[in-house]
Amino acid sequence: MLKNDQLDQWDRENFFHPSTHLAQHARGESPNRVIKTASGVFIEDRDGNRLLDAFAGLYCVNVGYGRQEIAEAIADQARELAYYHSYVGHGTEASITLAKMILDRAPANMSKVYFGLGGSDANETNVKLIWYYNNILGRPEKKKIISRWRGYHGSGLVTGSLTGLELFHKKFDLPVEQVIHTEAPYYFRRADLDQSEEQFVAHCASELEALIEREGADTIAAFIGEPVLGTGGIVPPPAGYWEAIQAVLRKHDILLVADEVVTGFGRLGSMFGSDHYGIEADIITIAKGLTSAYAPLSGSIVSDKVWKVLEQGTDENGPIGHGWTYSAHPIGAAAGVANLKLIDELNLVSNAGEVGAYLNATMAEALAGHAHVGDVRGEGMLCAVEFVKDKDSRTFFDAADKIGPQISAKLLEQDKVIARAMPQGDILGFAPPFCLTRAEADQVVAATVRAVQAVLG
Ligand SMILES: Cc1ncc(COP(=O)(O)O)c(C=O)c1O
Repeated sequence: MLKNDQLDQWDRENFFHPSTHLAQHARGESPNRVIKTASGVFIEDRDGNRLLDAFAGLYCVNVGYGRQEIAEAIADQARELAYYHSYVGHGTEASITLAKMILDRAPANMSKVYFGLGGSDANETNVKLIWYYNNILGRPEKKKIISRWRGYHGSGLVTGSLTGLELFHKKFDLPVEQVIHTEAPYYFRRADLDQSEEQFVAHCASELEALIEREGADTIAAFIGEPVLGTGGIVPPPAGYWEAIQAVLRKHDILLVADEVVTGFGRLGSMFGSDHYGIEADIITIAKGLTSAYAPLSGSIVSDKVWKVLEQGTDENGPIGHGWTYSAHPIGAAAGVANLKLIDELNLVSNAGEVGAYLNATMAEALAGHAHVGDVRGEGMLCAVEFVKDKDSRTFFDAADKIGPQISAKLLEQDKVIARAMPQGDILGFAPPFCLTRAEADQVVAATVRAVQAVLG
């Protein structure tokens, strides 16, 4: 076995890490943690540190680590049939079964699943399908996609454009011109502090409508949103938001894509975020929780309404010109089947709802009096703590102070708990595996209080 120092050197010399400060990492100025094994909610690095992973990887290991049922399903599939493609009507028992299992769980208006590998490529697929859809319907001008500032939808060319975070645009020449952004449903950061939640929802809907009118509804194809804003700050929508937004979209004949990469398969305590908030989407994006990240797999679930037009399109134009070599990869599909079975057998969706509510309530209570805790919010097994310089005037810290990253580093150092310093703002995010127990939730909260005190007093 290689020593850590050898691995460390190879890592810095050879490995181009995503979402990393490349220069600092290459110079050895940032930590390099080599993860070796994991079980339940704990991961272990090569130095023997056991860390409580309160972010489930990148909110994806929903059933927890070390599930032998999924590992066995992957191994069995690899032995029996590691690969065959799914072009021109080919399939495998695993991919066909998984499509059926997904549709059994999805909202009633959904019709078919297209399989990809990750959330980004699934959203790229969605945009292509939407453009194709409007071309088939004879509306070639209706192509722009509206997303929200602070939305996260991937980091490809179009999906990186959909993502409404500055870091993902800056110096990449994004967003592309077909993507435009509207207000985030982020009540805590509303510009007008006097606005009630209800007034803020009306404001978001009227901003959207004004954008549509400025651009012309005949140029807008779709709106994409996460049921709960994720990477942009873990922000549940204010009450009535989705109802108000959907009314605007319906009025202007604009498709709705619910990006459920984080919320799909139980994170909010409901099977889909769409069920949770009464969202009637035309396309639903799924990834992460579909396999709990035991293998890469994503999907675009398309509704009857979209599917009918896609069928018409291939009758008129021949086979659809879209596909990846690894679409519906059998190993990913086998992992997905085993994962969804496990979620049912262990009742993990209701556990995510119950223990998630407990985590949120305990966190809010423990930090209530702190002078620099501006907001504690969450839904299901998602929780965020947002820090402010001054509570009464809701003044934020300077980004250069890196308060969020300092607190997450302290949490790791003092109590070996992993939370995520969200990329825009001083926001500590939690998204543990659904199997988190109340005792583990208590441990996360106690450690967070200690880390906040250590950094902010
Ligand atoms: C809501 C949402 N959509 C899409 C993506 C992109 O998925 P991936 O990183 O698998 O490409 C993510 C990733 O975090 C996400 O949170």
